[in-house]
Amino acid sequence: MSQRILNVGLVGGGGGAFIVHPHQKAIHFDGTRRVVCGALHPDHEVAMKEAKAWPFPIRGYSSYQAMIEEEAKKPSGERMDYALIVTPNHVHHGPAKMALDAGFPVFCEKPLTLNLEEADDLVATVQDKKIPFCVAHTYLGHWTSRLARHIVQSGLLGKIRWVDARYIQGWLAGRTEDQGVIQAEWRVDPKQAGISGCGGDIGTHALMQLRYVTGLEVTRFQAFLESFVEGRRLDDHFTAYCELNNGGKAIIRCSQISIGHKNDMGIEVNGDKGTLIWSQEEPECLTVKLAGQPDRTYWRGEVQPNDGFLGDVPASLLEEPTIPSGHGEGFHDAFARLHRFFEEDVRAYQEGTYKVEDGSRYATVEDGRLGIAFLVAAVESNQNDHAWVAP
Ligand SMILES: NC(=O)c1ccc[n+]([C@@H]2O[C@H](COP(=O)([O-])OP(=O)(O)OC[C@H]3O[C@@H](n4cnc5c(N)ncnc54)[C@H](O)[C@@H]3O)[C@@H](O)[C@H]2O)c1
Repeated sequence: MSQRILNVGLVGGGGGAFIVHPHQKAIHFDGTRRVVCGALHPDHEVAMKEAKAWPFPIRGYSSYQAMIEEEAKKPSGERMDYALIVTPNHVHHGPAKMALDAGFPVFCEKPLTLNLEEADDLVATVQDKKIPFCVAHTYLGHWTSRLARHIVQSGLLGKIRWVDARYIQGWLAGRTEDQGVIQAEWRVDPKQAGISGCGGDIGTHALMQLRYVTGLEVTRFQAFLESFVEGRRLDDHFTAYCELNNGGKAIIRCSQISIGHKNDMGIEVNGDKGTLIWSQEEPECLTVKLAGQPDRTYWRGEVQPNDGFLGDVPASLLEEPTIPSGHGEGFHDAFARLHRFFEEDVRAYQEGTYKVEDGSRYATVEDGRLGIAFLVAAVESNQNDHAWVAP
């Protein structure tokens, strides 16, 4: 039976913005969601102009406050069903809190907030209202991330000894912020980005990937926040040496000054029986290596349960809609998968059957808070001669 199309409202996205566009494609991916309105820019006039110039008709609003207030007055079915927040980090808490208070589920970009107080406030609001909230850790949405999580947590690799979670880029190797690149301008400004540049921007992705795939938590870590480009106030290179709650260890290594690296994000997990390797730049497959056995590369769409090696693979993973392997899935598909799962929760919420998301399908508000707590502790470690700290 066909369902009503869910309506999405954008906070941010005008004026040459970046991440709104992959989100918009992902929202429209299945035909069951669509963008209907937006407050696209901090300047009220520009926001209205940008809305008029949007590639298809949307209701434009001069500010996110006006959008949430006006949308809340509309009848159910006509108003937005969830808000998507794609603004710089200092404009996450304000619209998220206001939307939640008005009863709108929220899909929010990472890092969750500027500081722990804001993150705590969102966690308390979401828990109080039992309302869907997704933090846009894109890479959890790759089908192969989900398979990696299943393989590692099934015990195939044995006890996890070491995890190398990385996110290496080169786009801030020079003074990109002085070259009219708006994405760079706010990312190097502590007022808009927060207490950590590289750590907040991509370190939180690497941390989330580590936690999602292994199911393990960082218990304590030493952090190194370094700035290689002269005059930059925030780190452009971020390293954390971590202890995990199973006794294993990990490194989270991130950089924005490694020339030649684009979005070199990935994870290697070493257990006492084997290793798993996954890279987001080649997300169609992952490799498992067990001692004394040939390496196995599993392609998305080519996985059979009980193949004599993998054991049971959850039906929910195998049945999940995807295109045949070899027709590459990528960044948009990963985002689409997150919006698809979120849509299910929004519909359940509206029908009164929502069960609080357990984090197996997308990053929750608690995951987002943990990312911020990790950054706060990282800054503390860095300022105290890289002392051990707990997130
Ligand atoms: N999940 C991912 O993989 C991923 C990738 C890139 C960026 N991000 C995150 O997405 C967010 C946006 O990043 P970006 O690179 O797209 O930034 P961007 O600078 O390209 O876009 C920001 C947008 O927010 C708008 N904006 C700013 N203040 C506003 C306000 N008060 N009201 C309405 N609109 C406002 C700007 O006009 C612009 O349209 C950041 O939090 C970033 O960390 C996530």
